[in-house]
This record gives sequence, structure tokens and C-alpha cells, in this order.
Amino acid sequence: MLTAPAGSLSRYLPLFERLQKKTVLDYGSGNLRNAIYLHRRGYRVYAVDLPGRIKSKTLPRLSLLFADELKDLSLDANIALCTFVLNLIDSNKRIEVMDTIAANMASGGYFLVETRDFTLRDLDLLIVPRGFARVHDQRGRYTVIALYKYLGAYH
Ligand SMILES: C[S@@+](CC[C@H](N)C(=O)[O-])C[C@H]1O[C@@H](n2cnc3c(N)ncnc32)[C@H](O)[C@@H]1O
Repeated sequence: MLTAPAGSLSRYLPLFERLQKKTVLDYGSGNLRNAIYLHRRGYRVYAVDLPGRIKSKTLPRLSLLFADELKDLSLDANIALCTFVLNLIDSNKRIEVMDTIAANMASGGYFLVETRDFTLRDLDLLIVPRGFARVHDQRGRYTVIALYKYLGAYH
């Protein structure tokens, strides 16, 4: 039995539902609670995690990828999620991870981050230089939640 999706995903689902294209990159997908929640709603989902964490089989419209595989792809995702993951990534690897996510985004796509142990300023310093603009934010109970829009590498 899967748990509920991240609160931040439920919060922004109405916005995502209005998008015409629904291709999702779920970075650090864990037990797939967000990936399957969106897949059941008809989204095309790419769930990315570390080797050893990925156990399920690929389903139609749900692909499971290793983080290293993502470096060679260009998914053109118009929604990316990174919930409860950033604080687990070594600080010297975070920029590379954000660059890889950006390289897989469609221009105008949304990137939703929810994390502990970061301030909004920390997130902006990491994410805005990769071609994103913050369009919304809020505080979770123990987390910071920020929604960014991808403006493109050369905006
Ligand atoms: C706490 S779980 C959160 C899972 C999911 N995002 C959620 O909200 O339920 C963190 C996940 O991030 C993954 N993770 C940690 N470091 C990662 C990295 N460098 N690249 C990809 N996934 C990573 C972990 O393997 C784990 O599955």
C-alpha cells in the first residue's frame, strides 16, 4: 500500500493538471509514492533514483532510471519533482544534480522542490543560476517548499 503523495505535490496538482503536456521527472523517487500518484492520473513519468533503490518493473508510461542514466538523456519534462531528496545529496554533488535536472527540462516547465535543512535563499542560490525563476513558495511543517519555472539555459 502506497502512502499519500508529498503535501507539496497535492498543493500544486491543480496547476499541473492545467498543463497540456504532462511529462514528469521525479528525481529521488524513493517508494514511488509521487510517481505512481501522477502515473495513475495519466502522466508520463520518469522516476529516477540510485541503483539498489529501484525495485519495481517499468510500466507503460512509467520508466525507472538510475541517476547516472539521466545525464545522457534529454527528457524535455515539463514537471520535475525533488521532494525530501536535496538534503540527502552531498553538497559537492548538488550543482551537478541540478544541472542534470535542468538539462532534462522543457522551457516553461515547473520544478517543485520540498526539503528539510534548507532555507529559501539556499535553494535560490542553488537553483536560480541553473536557468530557473522561483514563482511560488511556502513553508511546510518542517520543510521549505519552492516552485520554480525553467526559463531555459540561455534566458
Ligand atoms: C526520503 S526519500 C524521498 C522519496 C520521494 N521523493 C518522496 O518524497 O517520497 C529520498 C530518496 O532520494 C534518493 N536519493 C538520494 N540521493 C540521491 C541522488 N544523488 N540521486 C538520486 N536519488 C537520490 C534516495 O535513494 C531515496 O530514495
